[in-house]
Amino acid sequence: MNTGTVIIGAGQAGAQLAISLRELGYSEKITLIGDEEHLPYQRPPLSKEYMSGQLADLELPLRTADYYEKHAIEVVTADPAARICREEAAVTLASGRRVPYTQLVLATGARNRRLPLEGREPANVHYLRTRDDAARLREALGAAQDILIVGAGFIGLEFASVARLAGARVTVVEMADRVMGRAVSEEISVYFAARHTAWGAEVLCSTSVDEFQRAEDGRVTAVRIGDRTLPVDLVLVGIGVIPNAELAQEAGLAVGNGIVVDSGLTTSDPSVFAIGDCASHPRPETAGLVRVESVQNAADQARFLARRLCSQDGDYADVPWFWSHQTGDKLQIAGLAQPTDGTVVLGDPGAGHFSVARVRDGRLAAVESVNSPGDHLASRRLLANGAQITEEQLHQPGFTLRKALHAAPEGAPTNHRLLERTTR
Ligand code: APR
Repeated sequence: MNTGTVIIGAGQAGAQLAISLRELGYSEKITLIGDEEHLPYQRPPLSKEYMSGQLADLELPLRTADYYEKHAIEVVTADPAARICREEAAVTLASGRRVPYTQLVLATGARNRRLPLEGREPANVHYLRTRDDAARLREALGAAQDILIVGAGFIGLEFASVARLAGARVTVVEMADRVMGRAVSEEISVYFAARHTAWGAEVLCSTSVDEFQRAEDGRVTAVRIGDRTLPVDLVLVGIGVIPNAELAQEAGLAVGNGIVVDSGLTTSDPSVFAIGDCASHPRPETAGLVRVESVQNAADQARFLARRLCSQDGDYADVPWFWSHQTGDKLQIAGLAQPTDGTVVLGDPGAGHFSVARVRDGRLAAVESVNSPGDHLASRRLLANGAQITEEQLHQPGFTLRKALHAAPEGAPTNHRLLERTTR
């Protein structure tokens, strides 16, 4: 008897999988298991339009309750999966309910890395990942005057931008020597550090907090950084995420930096799959396994897996892309850069719109664009078509990504086929 597909994790990956399965005509049972009280919602606006008040709560859900009902998708809320029993092909939820599966998909995402603060959890130290986190932080922002942000990654800087708009004094403390160092080139870090300073925040790199001064109730009231003491009434910690791989590990599945899957997104058990932030997967253009933290990856892996579960074969190879809004600027990234990739700047950072081409083995590997959506779209298509743009071409006077796209041969092979050829 087919007991259908059980999806653990009702984030963007899990919800998209359920939606795509139905769109492809999948007719077995679908159970989407979530640990939050809310129906699946969009996460990117939480640190952007939602935080600044431009987007209302009502606009966050991905689909309405009616949609799930109409498409026979059972969404379980506030009842997390507690255990997977592979021998019995069943998941046990925290409530004790047992849900049998024929196919199990882990879309468990990631959770925030936390700051090791002793004693009681301080009420004014915030993290930002879930809708409830965002609602609490937005409320606290309304009354805050002196804000400390730990970590100058996407979360820290997007919040810094909104907090300055709200009129607060903002200090950002980053351990590494530049902002967003995990994700972008030095040129982009330099541009955004300057923009945040002009926007009125103080950005301190190669710095850490030496002491958190606390009130009796545990709240942080000030921080000491070197020989300075800063008053603080709100702290946001954005120091990265940890993949939720414990359930998989306890079930005896292969786990590394996340849940290990093959190019078809199958775990070490052929009836269990993993997608989204938790999945450590092979990519045609990189050696070893990668975990990609982005909505695009979550949604594209979900669509890919839906096709596979409906018997269409293939390898997952969509080009990753990312975006961030800060200081009135739009950052868009196409492709997965590596720290050792070279850079070629296209355009003039001083003019406020430019791109940085990342170069690996003499070829274009990724593009980071600032306020240049045309460059971003062109680079996504070039990378997806497997276009081989050389470093020499990038340096030619008058080179633009858009012209390169128009000059690319029609009907170029799809990226995975071509990339397979070039990586062998
Ligand atoms: N003190 C100061 N900075 C720190 C510390 C620390 N103790 N620990 C880590 N950092 C810095 C890192 O050097 C890095 O620059 O925090 C930053 C974290 O940045 P990200 O890894 O981009 O993580 P974060 O901003 O928390 O975003 C989490 O949400 O929007 C998504 O794509 C984003 O998936 C990512 C997730």
